[in-house]
Amino acid sequence: MPNTIQRSWFDQYMVPCFSPAKFIPVKAKGSRVWDQDGKEYVDFAGGIAVNSLGHANDELKNALSQQMENIWHIGNGYTNEPVLKLAKALVENTFADKVFFCNSGAEANEAALKIARKYALDKYGSHKNEIISFENSFHGRTLFTVTVGGQPKYSQDFAPLPQEISHLPFNDIDAIKSHISDKTCAVIVEPIIGEGGVIPADPAFLQALRELCDQHQAVLIFDEIQTGIGRTGYLYAYEETGVKPDILTSAKGLGGGFPVGVMLTTNNIADAFQPGTHGTTFGGNPLAAAVANKVVELVNQPEFLAGVKERHQEYIRRMTELNQRYQVFSEIRGKGLLLGAELLEKYQGKAKTLTNLAAEEGLIALIAGPNVLRFAPALNIGQQDIDDGFMRLENALKRFVQE
Ligand SMILES: Cc1ncc(COP(=O)(O)O)c(C=O)c1O
Repeated sequence: MPNTIQRSWFDQYMVPCFSPAKFIPVKAKGSRVWDQDGKEYVDFAGGIAVNSLGHANDELKNALSQQMENIWHIGNGYTNEPVLKLAKALVENTFADKVFFCNSGAEANEAALKIARKYALDKYGSHKNEIISFENSFHGRTLFTVTVGGQPKYSQDFAPLPQEISHLPFNDIDAIKSHISDKTCAVIVEPIIGEGGVIPADPAFLQALRELCDQHQAVLIFDEIQTGIGRTGYLYAYEETGVKPDILTSAKGLGGGFPVGVMLTTNNIADAFQPGTHGTTFGGNPLAAAVANKVVELVNQPEFLAGVKERHQEYIRRMTELNQRYQVFSEIRGKGLLLGAELLEKYQGKAKTLTNLAAEEGLIALIAGPNVLRFAPALNIGQQDIDDGFMRLENALKRFVQE
């Protein structure tokens, strides 16, 4: 049957803020994706750390279709059963006492930043409004979150920007020690910088942030939008660091492909939001909550999380082997199934060329900035998918070094 829907329609009808691949994926199952021409791809990108249980997972499909028979949307004048169940599960399995649901990562961070300022205003007064974040961080695309993010290219054209936001070097304890003050209301950090290059935070840096926030009555926000929901082999990455945040944001993998976001916090901070202070139409939607409940149930099992750590070892071993053969990367890093491979000096700026070659060879991969190849596959990716994916990556690397 001829394809009637064309990739060229993207350029014709859509605001050009993305530059999608030339092929259109039309079907996906597990860690395999097929395009309009029936070409098959192994998926090492997981929809950018979203498809935590792979594509079209049967248990998620059941959860969604059962909920579809009952209630789709009711609005926040009423609560609903799936969202109550999800709230309880998240509270019982984390540091948090209370949660706020929304639809995306940016919205979760927007809620986190707003509640941090409101809490400081209520408790300490209007002078306490500074937010500290880190260079190369990424926190979303709303005006507040691009301004807080540490990549000026995403905010500079949208001035005037929200004020009293500082960006400090990441993993630099001295820099924050000399900057933080009683004006600081919040420090926001990714436990592993994701979009900005897959750079893990040093445990000592996170510990120092905790101590400095306590000294200055500032709240510590962990943006776990990319690192949460089993991605690092823990339900949330903070568990491994020994540092508890006051606020944590989660999205991406939480819905396994269904849009949902959440901000988790403590009772004291939660009280800064009262009816009317903040809100959303779709946040806490029963369909999203039903799927997220099933994701949390499946991911938050010791054997499942151990499987993520085992796959991590295998990815690192195989990337290291390929690098010994092709000499392309200067560093291979990351935790769990959030992995980055930094290109050698002589290949700087060529990460996208490499992922384009990989796609031609039948492998979907990601970049994290111009110099880093990134993988964020499904957390349950199968052995055959890993084997085939690395064979295709090898084919791409052969061509990459020749070209
Ligand atoms: C760490 C982090 N924070 C926030 C976001 C924004 O999430 P969303 O695109 O769902 O708004 C992302 C997305 O890549 C992210 O990686």
